[in-house]
Amino acid sequence: MSYCGIRGAITVEENSRDCILMNTKILLNEIIKSNNIDLDDITSIIFTATNDIDAVYPAVSARELGIVHAGLMCVQEMYVKDSLKMCVRILINIDSNLRQKDVNHVYLKGAVKLRPDLAKKNFISIAIDGPAGSGKSTVAKEISKTLGYIYVDTGAMYRSVALYCLDNGIDTKDDFSVESVLDNINIELKYINGEQRIYLNGDDVTSKIRTQDVAKGSSDVAAIKRVREVLVDTQRKIAKSCNVVMDGRDIGTCVLPDATVKIYMDAEISERTKRRCGELKEKGIVFDFDKVKQEITQRDENDKNREFSPLKMADDAIFFDSTYKTAEEVKNEIINIINERF
Ligand code: DC
Repeated sequence: MSYCGIRGAITVEENSRDCILMNTKILLNEIIKSNNIDLDDITSIIFTATNDIDAVYPAVSARELGIVHAGLMCVQEMYVKDSLKMCVRILINIDSNLRQKDVNHVYLKGAVKLRPDLAKKNFISIAIDGPAGSGKSTVAKEISKTLGYIYVDTGAMYRSVALYCLDNGIDTKDDFSVESVLDNINIELKYINGEQRIYLNGDDVTSKIRTQDVAKGSSDVAAIKRVREVLVDTQRKIAKSCNVVMDGRDIGTCVLPDATVKIYMDAEISERTKRRCGELKEKGIVFDFDKVKQEITQRDENDKNREFSPLKMADDAIFFDSTYKTAEEVKNEIINIINERF
């Protein structure tokens, strides 16, 4: 047995309790998994945070993960001009058979750039594609919570572009007009209370992008090559900095062709319409079943037949029909598939 220390760092999106604890847990889990650490071998952990983080001690996350015997300490870092902002750093000390020269230090999200030489090259990525209402987002969210991965809803990004266009009188079908405003659009994903929130030019638009008009517009802008290039670039960057569950239409075929696990989810059109009507009802929106069905069918047609990265099952994806399954059943089956891969 010998002592060794393992380093890690991660950036957090905002100075809130949930965001700090969620990210610190992601980092701790990743260090533990990639070094095969037995929790009882951890003797102490030092947490440091940049001085823009003070909503909660990051050490709380260690207790919540069941690390009960180790000594924990949190300190605020000295201020260094131009250093990475909103960053939590960890030094885990362990007493085990692991040798210092064999440890895997872990740098995630924005902190990847601190030590590109140590950054892990291949994070785990779960790609879930499928048409509207197939149940992929519900399941993707649950899987990401269970595994402690980041959930990336790529549809929300296309919806945000559409919302910007609708709010600014831009025709979502006009390639030239949409391309000309792309530089004015800044989309950010933040994780608050464990949920993904989407920000368009600084405004939280998570609820605003869930209308039928935005859904239709998102399918239009998603057919524009330049829009796809910009958003796919962002999506790939996220997947290069942490473990992700990413859902969309082209994740397995285009965004992450080397994804660890690829799922293609579908369900009968009547079931998908029922699910969408249920969501609308929950939000108090008046709807007509046949109209919703027709809109979903039209959007599927658009998404499947466009020229660039159409909705298609990747050759190496696993097909799931969610029509007669609960979200819980689908989630458990997919988690079994993921576990079999490791
Ligand atoms: O999953 P969703 O309904 O939020 O997606 C909205 C639209 O965005 C969908 O009609 C097609 C498009 N989209 C896409 O083309 N590629 C993705 N990876 C995700 C969504």
